[in-house]
Amino acid sequence: MTNIVVIGAQWGDEGKGKIVDLMSEKADVVVRFQGGNNAGHTLVVDGVTYKLQLLPSGIVRGKTSVIGNGVVVNPWGLREEMKRISDLGTKISPDVLKISDQATLILPLHQELDHMSEEAAGKGKIGTTGKGIGPAYQDKVARRAIRVGDLAEPETLRMKVDNLLLFHNGLRKGWGQPLIDADDLMKQLTEIADFILPYAVPGWKILADKIDEGKAILFEGAQATMLDNDFGTYPFVTSSNTIAGQAAVGSGVGMKYIDKVVGVVKAYTTRVGAGPFPTELFDSDGDHIREKGREYGTVTGRPRRCGWFDAVLVRQAIRVNGIHSLAVMKLDILDEFDEIKVCVGYDLDGKKLDYFPMQFNASANVKPIYETLPGWKSSTFGVRDYAKLPENAKKYLKRLEELLGVKIGMISTSPEREDTIIIENPYEN
Ligand code: IMP
Repeated sequence: MTNIVVIGAQWGDEGKGKIVDLMSEKADVVVRFQGGNNAGHTLVVDGVTYKLQLLPSGIVRGKTSVIGNGVVVNPWGLREEMKRISDLGTKISPDVLKISDQATLILPLHQELDHMSEEAAGKGKIGTTGKGIGPAYQDKVARRAIRVGDLAEPETLRMKVDNLLLFHNGLRKGWGQPLIDADDLMKQLTEIADFILPYAVPGWKILADKIDEGKAILFEGAQATMLDNDFGTYPFVTSSNTIAGQAAVGSGVGMKYIDKVVGVVKAYTTRVGAGPFPTELFDSDGDHIREKGREYGTVTGRPRRCGWFDAVLVRQAIRVNGIHSLAVMKLDILDEFDEIKVCVGYDLDGKKLDYFPMQFNASANVKPIYETLPGWKSSTFGVRDYAKLPENAKKYLKRLEELLGVKIGMISTSPEREDTIIIENPYEN
């Protein structure tokens, strides 16, 4: 069976949820492999809108849904999310939802630290989602994290809690914050253990068994390439690796079992939080995209920064992920423009660049070199057939393919699953 990774190729919020949902029809298992409840995946199924944060998108269709070892799990947040989604009629049981016992827990102290660091950073803040993602990954890398499976061994848990607090209380003391009592934290963890442990499994093994049974696995990326901890616009990034290679690391499925990578992009660009964004628009064009595209964060409600499509960034994303084909989302948002711009290169102090530089000043100062294409000035909303797209919309998409060197396999023209033009089905080609 074909195992496919779906990845965001810009700064997130590309609409991966819809593509994963669409593709999950052919998949048996959907796996999250990085990030946590900083993600916001919106699915519209039979007119019902589901806003998922940590749960893999497959859950809504009853597919086996795995939260992999590379994910950071806030068990209290997960409990709330499961309640919210269950209330919409989705059945969630340990038969369907599997959480890797090797996944790292996000604790209340991580969320507090996230807020404290952002506040202390003042102007230099990252603009995080405030969910404690960074501090949880810091503890993971520093080898003091508490993992899901640790909740099953109270004695080990106590040792781990003491060790964790040695670090965090030292830090909190320095920051003038109240110290955390180990007994209190143990109490909280013991209570939440009863909720989460029935879902805890060796994730890699479950997936190995599924592969042996010939099941198809869909890897659901969160955030996106330009928020990757190595390849994104560091330090204005998230704290996990978000690129396709992480699908193997964050799930325990070896590379040889992964067949394809589908990249998801919007027909324009958005970003939430701080950091460089060469094609950002500060004028009425940007406002038009924001309002028509309803570009407000799913998790935080923040208005998203909006701009033209940046082919340089996406070309970079195609290479670092190894993307086979692209899904272009929200084409209809561009319907009213007279002209549409695409960034084809950068100018840095008179020098032309064909990649995004990593240096802080250079990345903030590159100026986009634009190519201007005529708009189509007619509605593409809900179009399901490529032939029915206006000629200029086809020209726009063809030009993107030329600039990117990758085929556009899917085009989305509304939030509804059915409003998708499928040119090349990743499961068939
Ligand atoms: P964190 O992941 O909460 O640490 O936030 C780090 C950066 O990633 C901030 O700029 C966030 O706005 C951004 N970010 C995190 N998750 C998402 C997402 O799902 N979509 C878009 N941006 C995100």
